[in-house]
Amino acid sequence: SSSGSASHEDFLQCFQSGLGVNTNTSSGIVFTKTSSSYESILDASIRNSRFLATSVPKPNFIVTPHNLFHIQLALRCSKHSNLQVRVRSGGHDYEGLSYVSNVPFIIIDLFNLRSITINMEDETAWVQSGATLGELYYAIANRSKVHGFPAGSCATIGIGGHLSGGGFGTIFRKYGLAADNVIDAQIINVNGTILNRRAMGEDLFWAIRGGGGSSFGVITAWKIKLVQVPSTVTIFEVSRNLDDGGSEIFTKWQTVAPKLPAELFLHAVLGVSNSASRLGNKTVVFSFTGMYLGTAENLLPLMQESFAEFGLKRSNFTEMSWIQSVLYFAGFSVDQSSEVLLNRNITSSSFKTKSDYVTEPISSTGLEGLWKMLVLEESQFIILTPYGGIMSEIPESATPFPHRKSMLYGIQYSVSWDSNEDATMYIKWIRTLYDYLAPYVSKLPRRAYLNYRDLDLGVNGPNTSYVEAQSWGLKYFNQNFKRLVEVKARVDPQNFFRNEQSIPPL
Ligand code: FDA
Repeated sequence: SSSGSASHEDFLQCFQSGLGVNTNTSSGIVFTKTSSSYESILDASIRNSRFLATSVPKPNFIVTPHNLFHIQLALRCSKHSNLQVRVRSGGHDYEGLSYVSNVPFIIIDLFNLRSITINMEDETAWVQSGATLGELYYAIANRSKVHGFPAGSCATIGIGGHLSGGGFGTIFRKYGLAADNVIDAQIINVNGTILNRRAMGEDLFWAIRGGGGSSFGVITAWKIKLVQVPSTVTIFEVSRNLDDGGSEIFTKWQTVAPKLPAELFLHAVLGVSNSASRLGNKTVVFSFTGMYLGTAENLLPLMQESFAEFGLKRSNFTEMSWIQSVLYFAGFSVDQSSEVLLNRNITSSSFKTKSDYVTEPISSTGLEGLWKMLVLEESQFIILTPYGGIMSEIPESATPFPHRKSMLYGIQYSVSWDSNEDATMYIKWIRTLYDYLAPYVSKLPRRAYLNYRDLDLGVNGPNTSYVEAQSWGLKYFNQNFKRLVEVKARVDPQNFFRNEQSIPPL
């Protein structure tokens, strides 16, 4: 359209003249649809292949800042030429919100801003948003064998999205969320002003630790508190099928896993196998993976007491360093060099994910129906994460992430597919599964995890009100939603930073 091409010219000219270079010279910082590297830069961190399709709207420009001034300039010029802004760190958003928009837009892609500066003296680090979790874990382990950081498992997740949406992993029952361990941050607000914690104030600093960064500005760096981990941690894995006592153990897991000592993380992954059943039928496979902050010797009595039915022996346990446990949960061999954590090449697939929280154990009737639904579809898996530990001690209002004391466990449902022609069928299946579980999970609101972004919960219209946005806002944030709206109204009253599920100003 003519207005589209007008914005096109305006933005490029504004940006290049701000840089002091001619519009026709390539700056290496802003890329147009005709730039030869536009597509490779766009696709580089698209983790969900659903959004690689040519039918998915693409940005008018991609800006790859090398410094904060480039971000300020991109904000100023996108305002000037009426382009919406999407900020991308690691590109792992489940719904592609960091790089897809239905209105003309630019992407500010932070992959060049990824320095990590560790200060062992006060056990802190400054990490830029474009760094990955793998780069952070690697940098910490290079400096100390007894320090770590509690965040997610997948090494290519970006710091920017992850920390601003919460962030949990295998040691979160002991140390809390990634966001719980942020002690300072640097944000560029809607006016292009660079603010640290003191300058942004406690309200905004609160909001960006779990409320999602994309509603508030561009967060460029985070100061985090490192945590002390033992030099030896222990890993184990046990599997059971449905006809092998899996259901009984899972039933018990629902109440026992959340009460285990905070040092012990025991999550359950449910999948479907064609061959595991004795009768050769499809069956549900229950995989329990444990990670203990301590030695096998200390873990053994703990497991024999809490889950005797596993029949675990010393030989079932593998002792290793914390960084090796990171490799293990990231899907690498623990004997590999930890340098694999620096690999930014992502393996993408097409998928749809949804989330839930459980406050009362799911009844046996509920579980039986669930097993029946699961065997209908092979290409799915469900990850159940026990809460408890320090998560029960942190007040619900400490950060926007509200899923704390009364949570037994969180659920992530995922379904993936090869051909995007089948997408509708798989998405329909996962929605049916989600509907089925409604009576058995948290209610009023039915809770959801922001970092498992799900647009089924509701999307903003052109002028979404606070009340309308509650359909998804209360699920992600419960009572904290109101405060997020108040912060938004103060720091971005014109709603410049917006997307399908951004916090509306009051
Ligand atoms: P991306 O760049 O897509 O950003 C996500 C959102 O944050 C977007 O709305 C974006 O605009 C905004 N944003 C990003 N950077 C910003 C910045 N600097 N300033 C302002 N806004 C910004 N979660 C978890 O807690 N534990 C886990 O173990 C996992 N595991 C996992 C595995 C895999 C394979 C995937 C795909 C995802 C997960 N996640 C997860 C979910 C993950 O935490 C979530 O998708 C994060 O938001 C991803 O952050 P990125 O920076 O990669 O995403």
